[in-house]
Amino acid sequence: MKTMAVTLDSVGGPVQVESLDLGEPLEGEVLVKMGAAGICHSDQHAISGQHGAELPCVLGHEGAGEVVAIGPEVNTIRLGDRVALNWVPSCGLCFYCIRDQKHLCSEGTQRIWNGYLADGTSRISRNGEPILHYCGISTWSEHMVVAEVSCRPIPDSVPFEVAALIGCGVATGVGAALHRGQISEGDIVVVVGAGGVGLSAVMGARMAGAERIIAVDREPEKHRLSIDLGATDFIPANDATIDAVLSLTEGRGADVVIEAIGNTRLQQEWLAAVRPGGTMVLVGVPSTSDLTNFVSADLIRSEKTIKGSYYAATGTDKAIDDLCAAYLDGDLPVDRLISKRVPIENIQEAIDSMLTGTEGRTVITFE
Ligand SMILES: NC(=O)c1ccc[n+]([C@@H]2O[C@H](COP(=O)([O-])OP(=O)(O)OC[C@H]3O[C@@H](n4cnc5c(N)ncnc54)[C@H](O)[C@@H]3O)[C@@H](O)[C@H]2O)c1
Ligand SMILES: [Zn+2]
Ligand SMILES: [Zn+2]
Repeated sequence: MKTMAVTLDSVGGPVQVESLDLGEPLEGEVLVKMGAAGICHSDQHAISGQHGAELPCVLGHEGAGEVVAIGPEVNTIRLGDRVALNWVPSCGLCFYCIRDQKHLCSEGTQRIWNGYLADGTSRISRNGEPILHYCGISTWSEHMVVAEVSCRPIPDSVPFEVAALIGCGVATGVGAALHRGQISEGDIVVVVGAGGVGLSAVMGARMAGAERIIAVDREPEKHRLSIDLGATDFIPANDATIDAVLSLTEGRGADVVIEAIGNTRLQQEWLAAVRPGGTMVLVGVPSTSDLTNFVSADLIRSEKTIKGSYYAATGTDKAIDDLCAAYLDGDLPVDRLISKRVPIENIQEAIDSMLTGTEGRTVITFE
């Protein structure tokens, strides 16, 4: 069959919208008709070469849709299921899976980066030449063949656009707040970078009962959205921002600071705003070649902890279930994070508007 999709042929772009050939789902695979797909900054990192993806590929790693065909030996997903897509499916058997760290699954992690489905081949092609599956799910496409294990069924009442964002940005931001920040009731939390991931960390901090949630962004338009999603304060990013946080916390610093941009200079500077005994969570991802340089004595004498946070920071399938339930209970207003909807033909406009920093999340709608 044919599918309209967004391809990246070389680092630096441009991305192209084109009609590609899509093979039938093989053993353990299903065909998903995409209902919605999100634009995450990690797609931009693939375009800029900051994260190195195998190319050419179909981009996109936030998506949800309906299963419209199933291959042989598919046991857990049925025709007609509405599913969110998970970019680190877990094998259930490896060192990490049996220790309840399924998001670090060695098999799932390896699969994301090589661009092939489990049998080592691709279902996507152009003039007979294979095109790779970015993160194993390539959601910027009207249809896509994915592994059954990449699909998590969602309730009928969760819109596809909400489930798509739960599939990366929301799971990542909430996971950083709950599982790595381990935010508790009454905590003071700072979230640096109020994009899709940072605003999701704000929602996570609110779910955890933080008393004060301070969002920081260089884009003043993020003020309204930050407060709308649960921040108690918004401080524009400038040279005085860290001092402003210190003065809001009697000079101590925050219990938890979450860096959701991926800038090593900011990660270093913001350690000064973590209180002694507090935690800094790094969830924004710098270039894979960037080095960092924290003041070691500050970490030791002040017992500050720095933690990385990857994807849902817990098993992603369960996280998708929990986040869908929280959305339906009214505790996770993901729909308010969506600030723009575009058809797939306008993908470049969607990427450009993410780069301005003014959007919450932009979603690609299909039909
Ligand atoms: N750890 C993970 O598993 C994981 C998963 C998804 C995304 N990410 C990463 O999280 C980061 C954020 O992703 P996103 O989709 O939310 O991006 P985004 O583009 O939606 O948001 C980034 C925000 O940071 C702000 N910003 C940029 N530079 C700034 C600066 N110097 N000072 C203050 N604010 C600044 C922008 O205005 C924008 O609001 C990216 O690095 C992305 O790759 C990590
Ligand atoms: Zn992402
Ligand atoms: Zn595993």
